[in-house]
Amino acid sequence: MTLTPVLSRYWDEPRSWTLETYERHDGYRALRAALAMDPDAVIDTVKVAGLRGRGGAGFPTGVKWSFIPQDAAGAGGKPHYLVVNADESEPGTCKDMPLMLATPHALIEGVAIAAYAIRARHAFVYVRGEVVPVLRRLQNAVAEAYAAGYLGRNVLGSGHDIDVVVHAGAGAYICGEETALLDSLEGRRGQPRLRPPFPAVAGLYASPTVVNNVESIASVPPILLHGPDWFRSMGSEKSPGFTLYSLSGHVTRPGQYEAPLGVTLRELLGYAGGVRAGHRLKFWTPGGSSTPIFTEEHLDVPLDYEGVAGAGSMLGTKALQIFDDTTCVVRAVLRWTQFYAHESCGKCTPCREGTYWLVQIMERMEAGQGAAADLGTLLDVADGIAGKSFCALGDAAASPISSSLRYFRDEYLAHFEMGGCPFDPARSALTAGAGAR
Ligand SMILES: Cc1cc2nc3c(=O)[nH]c(=O)nc-3n(C[C@H](O)[C@H](O)[C@H](O)COP(=O)(O)O)c2cc1C
Ligand code: SF4
Repeated sequence: MTLTPVLSRYWDEPRSWTLETYERHDGYRALRAALAMDPDAVIDTVKVAGLRGRGGAGFPTGVKWSFIPQDAAGAGGKPHYLVVNADESEPGTCKDMPLMLATPHALIEGVAIAAYAIRARHAFVYVRGEVVPVLRRLQNAVAEAYAAGYLGRNVLGSGHDIDVVVHAGAGAYICGEETALLDSLEGRRGQPRLRPPFPAVAGLYASPTVVNNVESIASVPPILLHGPDWFRSMGSEKSPGFTLYSLSGHVTRPGQYEAPLGVTLRELLGYAGGVRAGHRLKFWTPGGSSTPIFTEEHLDVPLDYEGVAGAGSMLGTKALQIFDDTTCVVRAVLRWTQFYAHESCGKCTPCREGTYWLVQIMERMEAGQGAAADLGTLLDVADGIAGKSFCALGDAAASPISSSLRYFRDEYLAHFEMGGCPFDPARSALTAGAGAR
């Protein structure tokens, strides 16, 4: 499969982020086309294209938009809102930030089109607070778009008003969960809400709201410009189109590789120069740390929603973290587990207590102080979290534990047998390739 740079096609150009560069590359032509259409026709176009949400769950974007009551004022006369999820906090996930840094106008044009389609006058972009350069670039681009008449009152003489607010979060992973994000945006502590009601019915300020990922929204202008057939000419029937795959870790040329859905890791590694010289692939995540890990045997799994699910994991955010033979899987899983325990919002008991205990057991294990029976306890605790927590953060915390035990049980056992980590440099004589943890 060849690479298909659409979103990333001129990221390398000087000053790629300016309005002038964006306009030179057909920028805001899709918005003009959308404004000449009926809003429902815009929704239909995105539906027919089959674009699926790039925030992790893969829900069809056009279908989500159609859940919003499509009368002009909204149900009960309430306004409609568009909220872009730019929190991007999943370990390994690193596509939305580069996109907003390189071509913020791709997102802003998508926002203007999506807001028009769902009859929203107000859109918010919720960006994690630590990424100040991204916030600045986005704010400057929004100001440029206002000055050029792409945002604000009477956009391009269409009679429609669209206001965009760039909002800085405070850097909590849970604020990427869409209902926690809405609470945070309203000024409250970010914790997930009970559903129903779903955001399409009662979201921001209890009004109909669409929450979409940055990449989902930025993919809309090319679809409007080139049509659903063009989009469907890439990828598979159920997972059509192109997407950003983010390769990180022990790979020769880490970065963003934009390809049709269904490309394999073997093919992507071909573009990225392979696993770093002198080493072999040991394990990898198909979609960030919350997706069950894969090994060398999964190199040819098609990286689309169905292919990855069929092999026992999830496509997630397409964050391909590559770990070579120098990595201790127990240590990697411990680090992820510590992250989930730290980011657990504490609202529900299985996750709040369970992630704490997972860390306690994993720390003992990594130090070689556990016993084989601890593996059963570990799985028990993970099982008490997965599917029994209030939101998907709990499932995410359990996933690296159970998947690593499925493929690397012996490595866990080796920690007990050796009384410590076999990859510890002090024990390097005992293992091949040890040392780079
Ligand atoms: C703990 C947690 C963190 C999440 N973080 C993000 C995130 O940073 N960005 C994102 O787009 N979606 C994130 N999601 C998924 C969102 O809840 C939501 O499904 C997504 O924003 C919908 O957008 P999409 O339909 O365009 O994919 C997260 C979900 C959970 C449970
Ligand atoms: S699963 Fe974790 S993050 Fe989600 S509501 Fe429960 S405690 Fe909070």
